[in-house]
Parts: sequence; C-alpha cells; structure tokens
Amino acid sequence: MSERTFIMVKPDAVSRGLSGEIIARIARRGFTISDLKMVTIAREVAEEHYGEHRERPFFGELVDFITGGPVVMLVVEGENAISVMRTMMGATNPADAAPGTIRGDYALSVAENVIHGSDGPESAERELALHFG
Ligand code: RTP
Ligand code: MG
Repeated sequence: MSERTFIMVKPDAVSRGLSGEIIARIARRGFTISDLKMVTIAREVAEEHYGEHRERPFFGELVDFITGGPVVMLVVEGENAISVMRTMMGATNPADAAPGTIRGDYALSVAENVIHGSDGPESAERELALHFG
C-alpha cells in the first residue's frame, strides 16, 4: 500500500554535510520525495513533535538538540513507506543499529542519531500535518 511518512534529517547530520547522502539513499530505495524543506524548528513545535516523550528525563536535551540547528524535513511516499523507512533508519541507539542502516552507517550516539521517521500511520498523519500542514 502506498503511504506517506514524515522524515527529518536531524541537525547533527545537516551540520556534518550528510543530508545529500541520506536523501539519495531514500530516493535510490525507490521512494518519491514529494516535498522537502530546510528549517530551524521552533521550540514549541519541537515540544509538540516529541510530545509523547514529555515526561522522559531526556526530553529537555532532545528539544535543545532538535532546535539547535537546521533540519531537512521530507515527505516520503511509496509502498509501505512508514515501516520500510523505520527499517532503513535502524535502531534508535546507533550502537545497536545494523551496518547498512542509516544510523548504523552514520551515527554513534543515541542523542545524535541522524534521522527521524514516523513510527506508525497515526504519527505520520500527525507529523505531516504539524510540519507540512
Ligand atoms: P525518532 O522519534 O527521533 O525518530 O527516534 P525513535 O522513534 O527511534 O526513538 P524514540 O523512542 O521516539 O525517541 C526519540 C528520540 O529521543 C532520543 N532518546 N534518547 N537517552 C535516551 O535514553 C534516549 N532515548 C531516546 C533519541 O534521540 C531518539 O531519537
Ligand atoms: Mg520516535
């Protein structure tokens, strides 16, 4: 089933000059990038984006990090885009991410893990509306 998901190249990857490589991997897989923009996320938007983690001890650091520099936001479309992108991203903690995944190839720390992708159909709808609505 063709789906749309929200993907974000995080500030660590943008500042390291990796956005082009990461976007190219997504396109090479066969997905369509139907919208794209570079933005610095406002604090209130970041808090809403990561609202499910509001009570977690790392919430403050997470919001500081994601608002700390420009990100590249993408609308990615194609067959099973949500779950296939999560598989391509690899485990949240790059130490556990398999080689060949984006986190497994480009990251070492859980805080600076290079890429975000929606984790299910409801979060995809919510995040696409929040950032591209
Ligand atoms: P994301 O939302 O960024 O795509 O990452 P994810 O689904 O793989 O992981 P999630 O559980 O949603 O966590 C969101 C982000 O919070 C940071 N985190 N830090 N210190 C920690 O134990 C910890 N756990 C999660 C990560 O940067 C993760 O991407
Ligand atoms: Mg998540």
